[in-house]
Amino acid sequence: MTLTNTNFKTVLITGGAGFIGNNFIRLFLERHKGVEVVNLDKLTYAGNLESLRDIESNPSYHFYKGDIADDAFVRRLFNEWHFDAVVNFAAESHVDRSILGPSAFIDTNVRGTMTLLEVAREFGVGRFLQVSTDEVYGSLGATGKFTELTHIAPNSPYSASKASSDFLVRAWWKTFDLPTLTTRCSNNYGPYQFPEKFIPLMIANAMQDKNLPIYGDGMNVRDWIYVDDHCDAIDAVLYNGKIGEIYNIGGGNEIPNIEMAKLILSKLGKPETLLEYVKDRPGHDRRYAMDSSKIEKELGWKPAKAFSEGIELTVKWYLDNEKWWKRIISGEYQDYYKLQYGGR
Ligand code: NAD
Ligand code: TYD
Repeated sequence: MTLTNTNFKTVLITGGAGFIGNNFIRLFLERHKGVEVVNLDKLTYAGNLESLRDIESNPSYHFYKGDIADDAFVRRLFNEWHFDAVVNFAAESHVDRSILGPSAFIDTNVRGTMTLLEVAREFGVGRFLQVSTDEVYGSLGATGKFTELTHIAPNSPYSASKASSDFLVRAWWKTFDLPTLTTRCSNNYGPYQFPEKFIPLMIANAMQDKNLPIYGDGMNVRDWIYVDDHCDAIDAVLYNGKIGEIYNIGGGNEIPNIEMAKLILSKLGKPETLLEYVKDRPGHDRRYAMDSSKIEKELGWKPAKAFSEGIELTVKWYLDNEKWWKRIISGEYQDYYKLQYGGR
C-alpha cells in the first residue's frame, strides 16, 4: 500500500554518514519535524560521523552501524522500527576505486540493495527510493542529453553495479509490487564531500600546493549540481513521485574538468602551474548531461543554486573546514565512532 505524503512516521536512510546522505538528513530533519530518522551506515572509509555532529543530539535522529547486505541485521532493524519509507544512499561510490577493486561494489551496490529490497518487501514498506546516478546511461558525445528513456549502458564497474541495483529495484516493483522510486542524478558538489572526488580533491591539493591531477586531456564534461538541490529533488520524489517511476536530476551546468580545475585555482589564488595532466582513467566517460524536464514538469522541482554561488560556497567551506578534510586524509576519525558510540 502506498502511503500518502502526510503519514511517514519512521524513515530509514542508508549511507547517511556519506556526502549526500548527511546533507539529506540535515534537510529532512529540518523539513519534516516529528518524523523519526534512522541512519544505517557501515562507516566505510567514506562514512564519517563527524559530518553529523550538529545533528546527533536531535531526538528524532538515530544512528546504527551496520551493513545493508547483512540480512539478519537489516531484518532486526526493520523489526524494531517498522519503517514507512526507505531512502537508499548506501553505496561504494568512487569510479577509480571500482577499477582497482570491484568486489565491494558488488557486495554493497548489488547484494546490499537486494537485501534491503527483500526485507522492505517482507515488512510492507510504503516507499522505497533508490538513489542512482546518470552514470548508468554511459557516455554522451558532444551533443544530446540523457532522458529517463535513454538505454542503460554502464562503462565502469561502479556504474555497472549501480545499473544492476536499478534493475533489481525495477524487478521488485514489477514482480513483488514493492512501491519503488528511482532517482538518477548528475555529479554533486558541496560541503562534506570526501576528498577523493574531483572538486574536493582539486581544492585540497591546491590548498596544500600539491599538483592537481587532470585525467587525459581534461576535456571530459560533467553536469555539476549543488548537493542541496539533489537532496531537495530526492525529498520531492520521496513524497510526491509516482511509484515505479525513474526521475533524472541534473544541474544544467556542463563544465569540462580542466575549466573547473582552473576556476578552483583562481578562487584560491594559486598558479596554473599546479595543473598536471596524468594518464587517463580506463573507460573514462566523455560527457554526461541530464535532461531533467520530467521532474521539473511533474514535481515542480528545479535546481535553485546558481553554479557561481555554489562553487563559491564550496571552496569557502573547504577553506573553513580544513581540519575536517585533513583529519579524514590522515585517517584520524577512525576512532571517533568507538569513542562516541562505544562500538555499538
Ligand atoms: P559516499 O561514498 O560519500 O557515501 C556512501 C556512504 O555509504 C558512506 O557513509 C558509507 O559508509 C556508506 N556505506 C557504504 N557501504 C555500505 C554498506 N554496505 N552498508 C551501509 N552503509 C554503507 O557517497 P555519496 O557521494 O554520498 O553518494 C551517495 C549515493 O548517491 C550513492 O548511492 C551514489 O551512487 C549516489 N550518487 C552520487 C553522486 C555523486 O556525485 N556523489 C551522484 C549521483 C548519485
Ligand atoms: P569523479 O569525481 O571521480 O566523478 P565521476 O567519475 O563519478 O564523474 O570525477 C569527475 C571527473 O573528474 C571525471 O571526468 C574524472 C575527473 N578526474 C580527474 O581528472 N582527476 C582526478 O583526480 C579525479 C578524481 C577525477
